[in-house]
Amino acid sequence: MAGIEEFLKERQEQGLLRKLKPASLRLGGKIYFENKEYVDLSSNDYLGLSAHPELKKAAIAATGKFGVASCASRLLSGDSELFQELEDTVAKFKGKEAGLVFNSGYQANVGIISSLFTGGDCIFSDRLNHASIIDGILLSQAKIFRFQHNDPGHLELLLKKERAKFKNALIITESIFSMDGDRAPLKELVGLKEKYNCQIMVDEAHATGVFGENGSGLVEEEGLSARIDLIMGTFSKALAGFGAYLATSRSIVDYLVNTCRSFIYSTALPPAVIAGNLASLKLIQDEPYRRKKLLSMAKMLRDKLQEKGFCVKGASQIIPLILGDNLRAVEFAKKVQEQGYWALPVRPPTVPAGQARLRLSLSYDHNQETLNKLIDVLSTIRI
Ligand SMILES: Cc1ncc(COP(=O)(O)O)c(C=O)c1O
Repeated sequence: MAGIEEFLKERQEQGLLRKLKPASLRLGGKIYFENKEYVDLSSNDYLGLSAHPELKKAAIAATGKFGVASCASRLLSGDSELFQELEDTVAKFKGKEAGLVFNSGYQANVGIISSLFTGGDCIFSDRLNHASIIDGILLSQAKIFRFQHNDPGHLELLLKKERAKFKNALIITESIFSMDGDRAPLKELVGLKEKYNCQIMVDEAHATGVFGENGSGLVEEEGLSARIDLIMGTFSKALAGFGAYLATSRSIVDYLVNTCRSFIYSTALPPAVIAGNLASLKLIQDEPYRRKKLLSMAKMLRDKLQEKGFCVKGASQIIPLILGDNLRAVEFAKKVQEQGYWALPVRPPTVPAGQARLRLSLSYDHNQETLNKLIDVLSTIRI
């Protein structure tokens, strides 16, 4: 407990101190703080499903029938036919043999990686992978090798040098990166996994619902489902639900049910959440126009910002505006917020040092006019 005051002071001085900020309402692409309305550029509700009547209906019906809680962990008595249905639906949606639901994406990554890999194994992890992946690797005690972001050449150098020294090996990446909004070179990574006798795990948290003909994700879009061992994703982003899933082989699911501590030692998600997730998976198939509009707005915004000379990254609904310095990012965000747009600065350690940014996260609920005004706002800020 020592050093707390010093830590807080140092973080404050560096512009890195984070604080909670309760919203009074978040709805339809808008967010409200103390009754002031902002265009919400900070949510993961990419498809604008969070207030969809079908999802509300499903959650209310499940609550009416089953009550508000699952009352136990899955292996005790918290399991239900709803979970079974969701897991079968996820497996089909992802083109794999079996599915397993987790209580959150964080718990999924931590639990899956630490159950399947151990000391004596090695894990090759993209340098920008999410904290939950890094924590899962640390917990597994496997040796970690971090390859340069989206760089199969660097990964191959590491594989050549290190792979043979370890028993099992995993290559792990996000498919759409949460803070950079760019796409992993999945085909090349799969080629390397096959060449060097590894397994591969892909985190589709930000791709599910947005990419692929059926909205299943980037793995589907690239036709790679059969060649990827472990496809993980969340219900908490575009699907506007909660919890996460793994799609994989039946034997891996059976193994995790017996060994994965974050799965075993936690109360099962409530029925309303499971029913909402099921309804959301159906909507993804029934309303493909949502993802089409989202991606076309994102392309327009990215192209126009690039034309205006902004340093913009990514190839998805997540558009980071790289600003560099932490305090500059904080000041820039403040000015954007004063103009009625709720976009947040993202700073280290979430992103590498020197790459503080404003993360613009688009939603189906936005429109062309709002985004044109945003471009004007961003263009007039001088810091
Ligand atoms: C790539 C990635 N994986 C996993 C997670 C964790 O998911 P959840 O929010 O469901 O815990 C996130 C969420 O921020 C994420 O961005």
